[in-house]
Amino acid sequence: MSLPSHHPFTLEYTSNPQPVFADIHTDNRFLPLEDLGAVAVHGYDAVRAFCDHPLMTRNFAESGVVDKQAMAERAERWPTLENSLSTGEGEETKRANLLRVLLAQDFRPRMIRKMATTVSEVVSKVCAPLRSESDVDVVKVVQEVPLIVISTLLGIDETTKDAELFLSAGPSYFRGINPIASDSDRDKAEVAAVTMIDILGRTVENRRSNPQNDLVSQVVEIADNRGDVDPMDVVRAVVILVAAGTDTTRLTSSLAIRTLLDNPEAMEAMREDRSLVKNGMMELLRYESPTKYLVRVATQDVEFEGQTVPKGSLVLLSIMGAGWDPRVFPSPETFDPQRDLRGSLSFGFGSGYCLGSHLARLQVTTLVDFVLDHLPSTATIDRSQTTWDAGNLMLREITSMPMHIR
Ligand code: HEM
Repeated sequence: MSLPSHHPFTLEYTSNPQPVFADIHTDNRFLPLEDLGAVAVHGYDAVRAFCDHPLMTRNFAESGVVDKQAMAERAERWPTLENSLSTGEGEETKRANLLRVLLAQDFRPRMIRKMATTVSEVVSKVCAPLRSESDVDVVKVVQEVPLIVISTLLGIDETTKDAELFLSAGPSYFRGINPIASDSDRDKAEVAAVTMIDILGRTVENRRSNPQNDLVSQVVEIADNRGDVDPMDVVRAVVILVAAGTDTTRLTSSLAIRTLLDNPEAMEAMREDRSLVKNGMMELLRYESPTKYLVRVATQDVEFEGQTVPKGSLVLLSIMGAGWDPRVFPSPETFDPQRDLRGSLSFGFGSGYCLGSHLARLQVTTLVDFVLDHLPSTATIDRSQTTWDAGNLMLREITSMPMHIR
């Protein structure tokens, strides 16, 4: 059976959702996706309201709408994965709060600015092929940046086998945590969860007796001082952090390079006037978001401006759809680095707002500056050879993006 073009698992919607947005934005209707038990939402006002809605939750297990038997079966088949997500009532909220308390210190803008030199060195080293080679796969080149930045931050030596295993596990884990992930994605995520928890658990133990100047040591110290924190919660919190911070940055960076090359005038304007890069980076995120959908579950019927999301539905929130809503961002098809982006939802909204937004901005602006310094606007992306994995519900997963630099 062929899927309609607005279905999240089509190549069409994954790679080029703009025509679907244009159609939906005529009346901002919700799209029922019966095969997924889901409702997809693309209008700015509804996406913003549902990001942090009291009758919606980010945790499937705790939504109260899921069959207990099915949850028990999942816990038996994927014990580490399920345990890493939730172990009982209120755990999701407890862990989210813990993550924020423990990590907020290190993710404040002042702390992140201190990383500017490190990030700049990583970008220069990793992205060197963009200035020295004539044919490169953009995705493969830029993916190393968030991996190395995060391992440096955590204090995991990037040259060790542990680092390689740990960091490659992040994306598999992230892919398996959505409520309707396939069994095979869950199998991979279970292996990834075991790997990450094992390595991080050892790192936590090591830093207890041998503190270093890294994130894990600081988190362990705060947790020990508080006295009420299970070290495993620290481990789980950091696992989520790694999962949330690598793929999003990799995909944003790849899409940003493509958008710049597709818009040579805007690229030249940014090259000439670097003060445009800060806002231009947010415009890059609006124009091509790495996020396909944020996922919620409706715990009750939710009414919104004459439409209803039925209790028990998965609610799929399109951040990119919201960024293309012409009521809020006029002429959304125009890439304008000077656009007024107040109200942008690119990093979420409300209590779940991206914890790593300052680090993400630092990495992407550093990469954009590097591209403006070194990449000629005659470089071209080979769209016919660009490949996507449409089966990812949460991310717009580009797997390969060849670029020719002449
Ligand atoms: C350009 C890159 C990034 C984008 C576009 C992005 C976007 C987002 C969005 C939209 C959310 C909200 C999710 C929701 O409400 O369901 C989020 C949450 C989150 N992000 Fe990011 N993110 C990026 C990079 C990062 C980085 C680098 C880190 C950390 C190293 C990070 C850590 C997190 C965490 C931990 C959360 C969950 C916060 C919570 O649940 O309390 N993100 N991100």
